[in-house]
Amino acid sequence: MAERARVGVLISGRGSNMAALVEASAAPDCPYEVVLVAANDPAAAGLAWARGQCIPTWSHSHVGMPRAAFDVLVDEQLTALGVEWVALAGYMRLLSPELVGKWRGRIVNIHPSLLPKYKGLETHARAIAAGDRQAGCSVHLVTEALDDGPVLGQTRLPVLPGDTAEELAARVLAAEHDLYPRVLAELVRGEAPLPA
Ligand code: GRF
Repeated sequence: MAERARVGVLISGRGSNMAALVEASAAPDCPYEVVLVAANDPAAAGLAWARGQCIPTWSHSHVGMPRAAFDVLVDEQLTALGVEWVALAGYMRLLSPELVGKWRGRIVNIHPSLLPKYKGLETHARAIAAGDRQAGCSVHLVTEALDDGPVLGQTRLPVLPGDTAEELAARVLAAEHDLYPRVLAELVRGEAPLPA
């Protein structure tokens, strides 16, 4: 098999999108492998799952640390593991401008809305409250601003009559698990529709 692109995944919690990235990487034609799962919370559930897959993990609490100092530690780990692409997967921290600057164009995030709508939290409740007929998820390149940056791929789903935020979230999450590995593979193959 040709050399695969080395991906580091940053998580803060459950890590189901991280797991979807890892599981997709088992396909023989997947162009990437996950070589590091890092978390800003040592209790993040996804860490245990990654360890169970024999993937190197790292965690450190960001509590009490300046953002830039914490991101230096993250960057050291990414560099030590030879990471080439960074995937944020439920990573609940805004990155420092220094980290974004160093990895610009090589960091992606998944967000549970049809960006540019509903950056930040409570995306499903906000979509329902607005009466939106469609919801979905987006994979985008990471910039200094929250949930900003060029969108590389989206999946649209209908909002069903009577949907609760939890019901909608569950359907969108399933779509996230399909979209993220697909877009990441396109990106590392150089096939993603990057903006000029
Ligand atoms: C996902 O909905 C993701 O889009 C958002 O946070 C959630 C993380 O879930 N950024 P998980 O940790 O990947 O299960």
